[in-house]
Amino acid sequence: MVFAAKVSEIPEFGKKLVEVGGVQVLLVKTKGTIYACEHECPHQGAPLQGALIKEAGKLSCQRHGYRFDLVTGVCAEHKECVPLKIYPVEIRGDEVFVDLD
Ligand code: FES
Repeated sequence: MVFAAKVSEIPEFGKKLVEVGGVQVLLVKTKGTIYACEHECPHQGAPLQGALIKEAGKLSCQRHGYRFDLVTGVCAEHKECVPLKIYPVEIRGDEVFVDLD
């Protein structure tokens, strides 16, 4: 587990892009839960920093609207799409740690 950001730096229903160990990781917070995923959309590579959060636990890519589950990474409407890579998250006090392995 490596430190990624402070919990307080990620707005509710918002995102924060960080670089951890040379890897770009997108942190997303919805309803108090923080998720971590890869920054590139697995569909056609759009940067997900601009993705929309329309509901808790889901991230909608702004390019073609694919909606990824932030727990499983799966896009339910397009199961043929490679899932979004999700990184395990651990919260320690006000600090967010992610597991990149
Ligand atoms: S590039 Fe993200 S949905 Fe197509």
